[in-house]
Amino acid sequence: MITNRMEDAFNKQINEELYSAYLYQSLSAFAANIGLEGFANWFQIQVQEEISHSQKFYHYISERGGKIKLLQINEPPSEFGTPLQLFEETLKHEQHITKCINDLMNLAIEEKDHASQIFLQWYVTEQVEEENNVKTILDKLKLIGNEGHGLFMIDKELSVRVFTPPV
Ligand SMILES: [Fe+2]
Ligand SMILES: [Fe+2]
Repeated sequence: MITNRMEDAFNKQINEELYSAYLYQSLSAFAANIGLEGFANWFQIQVQEEISHSQKFYHYISERGGKIKLLQINEPPSEFGTPLQLFEETLKHEQHITKCINDLMNLAIEEKDHASQIFLQWYVTEQVEEENNVKTILDKLKLIGNEGHGLFMIDKELSVRVFTPPV
């Protein structure tokens, strides 16, 4: 069994991950709208990843005998500005999620919940990757600015991303 505090916190994290999916779906739609199909694809893969993150929490809560409680998902923004700003928004959001995961880990330590600490380690590693991927794209966007041939090249690069389900 998990404690009530852990159960509540994990249920909140399901909501955070589903909001992430919602935010990226909105970013994908915005990118498609301004003709950046590769960007749209990258964000669409991100949607799938976030849903899979929420599923992992969902199954874990059940596995530990906890109760699932689905909370209301907030409305994400629908306007994002320049291509650079799309990824600035993404980095800011991923940094927020990293904080959520760290808070969950702190709680698991406080509650002496060893199984949850091991479970959460996957997310700690995942967040390092998430932030690093986004930073790499951001750096390129900063180099090329928001237009021209460079943007076309980055869009092409982002168009090849495919979804690999987490293990
Ligand atoms: Fe996530
Ligand atoms: Fe993420």
